[in-house]
Amino acid sequence: MKDYKIAVIPGDGIGKEVIEAALIPIRAAASKHGAKLTETSFDWSCETYLKTGRMMPENGIDTLRDFDSILLGAVGWPKTVPDSVSLHGLLLPIRKQFDLYANIRPHRLLPGISGPLAKSDFDILCIRENTEGEYSGAGGRVHVGTPQEVAVETSIFTRHSVERILRFGFEQARLRRGKLASTTKSNAQKYTMVMWDEITEELAPAYPDVEVTRYHIDALSARMITHPETLDVVVASNLFGDILTDIGAAIQGGLGFAASANINPLGGVPSMFEPVHGSAPDIAGTGAANPIATVWSGAMMLDFLGEREASADLLAALSRITRRTLLLTPDCGGTSNTFSLAREIANAL
Ligand code: NAD
Ligand code: IPM
Ligand code: MN
Repeated sequence: MKDYKIAVIPGDGIGKEVIEAALIPIRAAASKHGAKLTETSFDWSCETYLKTGRMMPENGIDTLRDFDSILLGAVGWPKTVPDSVSLHGLLLPIRKQFDLYANIRPHRLLPGISGPLAKSDFDILCIRENTEGEYSGAGGRVHVGTPQEVAVETSIFTRHSVERILRFGFEQARLRRGKLASTTKSNAQKYTMVMWDEITEELAPAYPDVEVTRYHIDALSARMITHPETLDVVVASNLFGDILTDIGAAIQGGLGFAASANINPLGGVPSMFEPVHGSAPDIAGTGAANPIATVWSGAMMLDFLGEREASADLLAALSRITRRTLLLTPDCGGTSNTFSLAREIANAL
């Protein structure tokens, strides 16, 4: 029996609820196919910060290094800890320090789910650059609090990182329907985005089987809503990818559906799997959180670990349940709570 070491970081708010619930069908799918998940749970969160002054211990990254995968719920509890502290103390360093440069976010409708905006069926794979760009953290403020205050936040784009994320996008497009949308704002941003466009054009001849279209981020945002069926693989910078994938979530039925994988395609480090949504303070503790995004992220984790059948089986179970509206959580018109829906998914395996 294959035994995988999984680091589980439930985090804050509904992160704790969706992780505990989603692990029921994730474990069941693994064990049905002869795989064992040996979980170690870490209580790293805003609560931990309030007690210790740190979101994770000083050796947190090294602690995670030996795991096969990380499964994370959500980080952030702005009522007590500023987001700029909590996210830069836990989620963002994991992405950056393990160089998990590809953030993969699938957007498609599960059977029976009609996104509020969806006019047609679609299957989009968003690939978000996950280590630099607008999230580089370079900048500062001067004359704070005075009328002369200036704040600067510099986007840093390196040729190395832009090239590798675009290459990853081309390769994914090849495995799918052969279409790549490369996203920039090069009509307004003269340096970073012009370099991104140039690298897109330089790489294209090496992938003659992939049809590349360059879009401006504003136009692509509208297209994702009005004509999502025209898109296949979308590659975007860190911030643009963040925004596009909440749009992707919206068209696929809401944030309760959007899953993600943070990977380094070269391997050698643990990958991290997490729902796209956050800690949802407005519904935390009510049982209304939809666990599907986390279950789907778990299916992506099983696939990445090489447990393809367990992953496919879990997604199939999910698809059988989403046809039955009443079994779902209130965000998709159902009457279930987080745990009863998760148990139904496990029963459907
Ligand atoms: P959010 O994603 O937490 O919530 C946005 C809206 O979507 C809320 O109305 C919420 O109730 C709803 N929602 C989210 N997930 C849901 C689910 N599974 N089922 C049903 N409804 C769901 O975004 P926010 O309110 O902007 O952020 C709240 C906190 O989470 C902040 O601290 C933010 O920084 C953090 N955050 C963390 C992550 C992460 O850890 N990856 C992602 C996004 C936001
Ligand atoms: C996401 C989140 C994070 C991001 C935040 C919480 C820093 O919105 O994973 O989509 O912007 O990457
Ligand atoms: Mn986001």
